[in-house]
Amino acid sequence: MRAFEPKSIIEPFRVRSVEPIRFTTMQEREAALVAAGYNPFLLRAEDVLIDLLTDSGTGAMSARQWAGMMASDESYAGASSFYRFEHSVRDVTGFRHVIPTHQGRAAEHILFATIAKPGHVIPNNAHFDTTRAHIERQGAQALDLPCEPSLDPQRTHPFKGDMDIDALRATIERVGRARIPAVMITVTNNARGGQPVSMANVRAASELARANGIPFLIDACRFAENSWFIKTREAGYEAMKPIDIARRMFALADGCTMSAKKDGMSNIGGFLALNDDELAARCRNLEILTEGFPTYGGMAGYDLEAVAQGLYEALDEAYLRYRIRSIEYLGEKLVAAGVPIVQPTGGHAVYIDARSLLRHIPPEQYPAWSLNNGLYLLGGVRGVEVGSVMFGRQSDGSEKVAELDLVRLAFPRRVYTQSHVDYLAEVILEIAAQKASLPGYRIVEQAPVLRHFTARLQPVGTARG
Ligand code: F0G
Repeated sequence: MRAFEPKSIIEPFRVRSVEPIRFTTMQEREAALVAAGYNPFLLRAEDVLIDLLTDSGTGAMSARQWAGMMASDESYAGASSFYRFEHSVRDVTGFRHVIPTHQGRAAEHILFATIAKPGHVIPNNAHFDTTRAHIERQGAQALDLPCEPSLDPQRTHPFKGDMDIDALRATIERVGRARIPAVMITVTNNARGGQPVSMANVRAASELARANGIPFLIDACRFAENSWFIKTREAGYEAMKPIDIARRMFALADGCTMSAKKDGMSNIGGFLALNDDELAARCRNLEILTEGFPTYGGMAGYDLEAVAQGLYEALDEAYLRYRIRSIEYLGEKLVAAGVPIVQPTGGHAVYIDARSLLRHIPPEQYPAWSLNNGLYLLGGVRGVEVGSVMFGRQSDGSEKVAELDLVRLAFPRRVYTQSHVDYLAEVILEIAAQKASLPGYRIVEQAPVLRHFTARLQPVGTARG
């Protein structure tokens, strides 16, 4: 008998603990959406059938993770769970100092409160919103330097998450190294479609930063997914294990921030990891104030155990193959049916280009918000708008249409199966067929910052609009 290469990429796990999902009628969903002020963030999760709001902290843990959690050490100081956590983080990243935090933004808070000052500039391929907010909170500027191919959602390119290295060089010349406390790179690039960054680009950014004496840091939330893209798309890495690709990438940096709610495969947790002794000491001092003692940093011992194990599971080849394939699978179905999406599909989500799909809704009436609400009404699916509701309000209170109006459908890790994805594709194609019935929206109530979380909206052109 000959061995064969199966075409089906199956879930590399079997399920032995299940959580029911609740089916609702369209009338029930309509009532839930009205009660939520037409804002899916304000829905009760039990009224959602397939929840793709985020891939952050929403994954399923493994039996091994749960076993580690049961055996955790909850000592306040020096718990063995911390040492297991520290060992895993060091083993994967190679950084000397491991500072646990309750999630990614806590690591950002500690880092930027320590290194960023008014007048500073911190370049990145594209800052995630919490990273930007923590930098701006210190009076510094968070500067995005995305590569040119990323500006066109339909254009395919293997590493659309790359940083524009010429722009980084020009920024360092213009601003001067003294006003740049760090250069960052976010892998994968969440703000731009979950797109990967090549090793060559990380290296180029690192060399430029280091040649100028500027620390180079990685926002590592989705480092394992990024490693898989390097393995499958960048010449010279085909035969390498994802963990070795990750190690090589981290070796180019002086530290990282991490939300373990993504590629830490955990429901909560994160860390700041650094090589610089003096900087690490200053960060630990602030950590004690805001997160807790440096051997738990806002996490329970069982959370530390879950991350210690999860980091390795995120790097498992069979898992990564299935993970990236399930996103690509949905993308292929949508592209084949002519639904515009950000191409190619990234590591954790499919992004639908709602402005292109819903040409009858002017950008001022939030087409991506409308599409997302339509997906919920029709199929009980919850994604998130990444468009003018999220980004349109300027700091002076004025309104500016965002560059793109996207709906992000982020996949929780190891949670949904292929039939869930088939159902999802069916719902999206049906919405596309009924798109003329989707209304524009207007905001009737909003907070001054990060308004998308709590805003209340109304459809335009209805009795209530
Ligand atoms: N950096 C990136 C690239 C992220 O995507 C996130 C979170 C963070 C930092 C902050 O981490 O949530 O643990 O504090 N992204 C989530 C999302 C919320 O839905 O994309 P956190």
